[in-house]
Amino acid sequence: MRVAVFGTGTVGETLGRKLIEVGHDVMMGSRSASNEKALAWVKKAGSKASAGTFSDAAKYGQLIVNATLGTATIEVFKAAGADNTAGKPVIDISNPLDFSKGFPPSLFVSNTDSLAEQLQREFPKAHIVKALNTMTAAIMVNPRALSESHHTWICGADAGAKETVRGVLQSFGWKSEEIIDCGDLSASRAIESLLPMWLRLYGALKTPMFNLKIVK
Ligand SMILES: NC(=O)c1ccc[n+]([C@@H]2O[C@H](COP(=O)([O-])OP(=O)(O)OC[C@H]3O[C@@H](n4cnc5c(N)ncnc54)[C@H](OP(=O)(O)O)[C@@H]3O)[C@@H](O)[C@H]2O)c1
Repeated sequence: MRVAVFGTGTVGETLGRKLIEVGHDVMMGSRSASNEKALAWVKKAGSKASAGTFSDAAKYGQLIVNATLGTATIEVFKAAGADNTAGKPVIDISNPLDFSKGFPPSLFVSNTDSLAEQLQREFPKAHIVKALNTMTAAIMVNPRALSESHHTWICGADAGAKETVRGVLQSFGWKSEEIIDCGDLSASRAIESLLPMWLRLYGALKTPMFNLKIVK
């Protein structure tokens, strides 16, 4: 599959590398076609990797990964172009974190709305699936790095898009029973609200290499 990865940060680089490793072709999108981080990533990632603007990447991708700063996500999708994301599954990993008052950040949308829903309202033809935003990037692509089984969650309106995302997660090493479908995209309100807890745990455990396990 051709995948557009929006984002040149840790998540974009890590997901881009893993997507290539499991057989996809990846274009990394950013604000500039000559973004230094994207070009350096392409050099390392090899012949299945390329880079372009958000719009170039959106046109290229059959699947889109949103790994952009939460405060910029809507602008990024505007730059990508609504027509270029229409009908495509979007793995939305972004978090609505507001660092304007320092650390710890607060959520700039929560409780009765979420960043994923804002994005879906702005781009109704894209198939947004919230996924992977509640763990560090190294675990997203290598769940077996932790000593035990643990869980991740997805949500979204489009059943086909959720199946595509589930398949991608399984190709990363997630077991089917570790992926919990939390229902429609409004579940993003709860999922994005896990971030303050994640940040507290990070402070307490002094490592980002942890995740949550749900026990019945
Ligand atoms: N880091 C993690 O392990 C982790 C874990 C879970 C979830 N997340 C979430 O995943 C997302 C990506 O995180 P990250 O740490 O990899 O990268 P990041 O630094 O949060 O975001 C990098 C991307 O955001 C774009 N961006 C920043 N400001 C922008 C603006 N004003 N207009 C347009 N685009 C802008 C950058 O574009 P350019 O390339 O053009 O500079 C870049 O591609 C975030 O929402 C984060 O909360 C991160």
